[in-house]
Amino acid sequence: MKFFADTGDVAEIREIQAMGLLDGVTTNPSLIAKSGRQFKEVIAEICTITDGPVSAEVAALDFDGMMKEANVLRKIAKNVAVKVPLTVDGLKACKALSSEGTMVNVTLCFSPNQALLAAKAGAYFISPFIGRLDDIHLDGIDLIGEIRQIYDNYDFKTNILAASIRSANHIKDCALIGADYATAPPAVLKSLVKHPLTDKGIEQFLADWKKTGQTI
Ligand code: E4P
Repeated sequence: MKFFADTGDVAEIREIQAMGLLDGVTTNPSLIAKSGRQFKEVIAEICTITDGPVSAEVAALDFDGMMKEANVLRKIAKNVAVKVPLTVDGLKACKALSSEGTMVNVTLCFSPNQALLAAKAGAYFISPFIGRLDDIHLDGIDLIGEIRQIYDNYDFKTNILAASIRSANHIKDCALIGADYATAPPAVLKSLVKHPLTDKGIEQFLADWKKTGQTI
């Protein structure tokens, strides 16, 4: 399973990279606003940190506007994936951009049928939002499982990029059910390393080592 950092914070991205966990990055307008920086400048900097896909989202809602913005975004670096919303115009833009060889991430997916449409439009990534479904008492992981089955039934090549991940359990469940990628806030990715028995074991080894009076 590949991991993307879901953030516009380059310091966080560098840290995940240093841990050997970074396969790419996703951003969205809210994350860019949170960074307080210029959108195109942040995307360009992220693309110097990773060769993996870096999702940059269009702001326009109409086909022509999306294509115009996509043309700007995809020129920033060859690993930019243009992110479009799951709407009729978003699917049209997905079809057009994909047929030109641009990686497209279709975002804000909340149903298996939406995911089916994105695959038919040639999306490179489909982003089903788990956490936001859980927030309204629906099961985000079930959605990932249903999309997995549909894509496998018809041999669609679109990658399932589980998004809106809020916890380590989300990542484990996505891995078990067969998501190709997970994009998560750096704090969630870093939390995967934690186990109380690891901490306890280190503490005990260190105490016993001190008793030996040795150094290495
Ligand atoms: C995905 O690409 C989105 O940026 C992100 O996962 C949304 O997550 P949220 O629901 O926590 O905002």
